[in-house]
Amino acid sequence: MSSDKSKEKKDRMIAVVSGKGGTGKTVCALNVAAALRSIGKDVMLVDADVEDPNLGISLGIHSPDMSLNHVLEGRKNPDEAVHVHDTGLFVIPSSLSINYTDTDFQFFSDAMKKLDGYVVADCGPGVNDKLVSVLEAADTSIVVTNPMRTSLSGALRVIELIRDIGTDIEGLVLNNLTSKELYKEEIEAITGCEIIEEIPYDKMVDESITHKRPLLDHVPYSNTSHAFRRIAHRITGEEHELTLSEKARTLYNSFRSIFH
Ligand SMILES: Nc1ncnc2c1ncn2[C@@H]1O[C@H](COP(=O)(O)OP(=O)(O)OP(=O)(O)O)[C@@H](O)[C@H]1O
Ligand SMILES: [Mg+2]
Repeated sequence: MSSDKSKEKKDRMIAVVSGKGGTGKTVCALNVAAALRSIGKDVMLVDADVEDPNLGISLGIHSPDMSLNHVLEGRKNPDEAVHVHDTGLFVIPSSLSINYTDTDFQFFSDAMKKLDGYVVADCGPGVNDKLVSVLEAADTSIVVTNPMRTSLSGALRVIELIRDIGTDIEGLVLNNLTSKELYKEEIEAITGCEIIEEIPYDKMVDESITHKRPLLDHVPYSNTSHAFRRIAHRITGEEHELTLSEKARTLYNSFRSIFH
């Protein structure tokens, strides 16, 4: 890993979006944040999906007393809504109460500016005013899509929106590769965006959620975890190469997962 801080990119707030539901935004946001933390960065994971918040619950935070909703309503400062997960990850969850689905995002950007370090925002599906507020606050976005035409239509809409707003698109993450309906080159040509990572279908993703932990903490040495780590390094602009021991542990885990 490079120690030259001047090489670090300035992108600080990353919105994880897709336009379509169920593509893997929450899994991606959670694990990119965990990956940033695993490489020594200060990071805050924010559940910006107030209509169907599932980030907190994925980490075992079921009924947060303080949430993003309280912050956006001006009742709390962002640092008062931070939950520390047992892995050490800092999270601002959204409330699961039906009373909070309509929270106004007008002050989202102001609230996020009060946070230090990287901010990774897990966005909801669809293209609406709340998403616009998050995209306007973000320095860059990661668009998560699946290699299927139905998923790509959502990605196209969200890409158009980001281009209209004028912020950066870090690239596409092609997740959950169980279908071969569309190939990488085809997707890049249709969207005009680079695919920065391909994440395979990995049964350990659901297992990690069962254990209420990011995959990065549940199985740190796997090809899927390394894929999330590469995204984190791309965000920071730092280079990274696996050590011999990390490669050996990854190989061991790959063999192990075949027999489990
Ligand atoms: N690479 C993967 N391998 C295996 N399962 C995955 C993978 N990515 C996501 N999943 C599973 O797919 C489901 C949907 O993922 P996730 O909740 O992250 O999608 P989402 O885009 O956030 O959905 P929503 O739009 O509803 O918020 C979850 O059960 C998740 O565990
Ligand atoms: Mg989600």
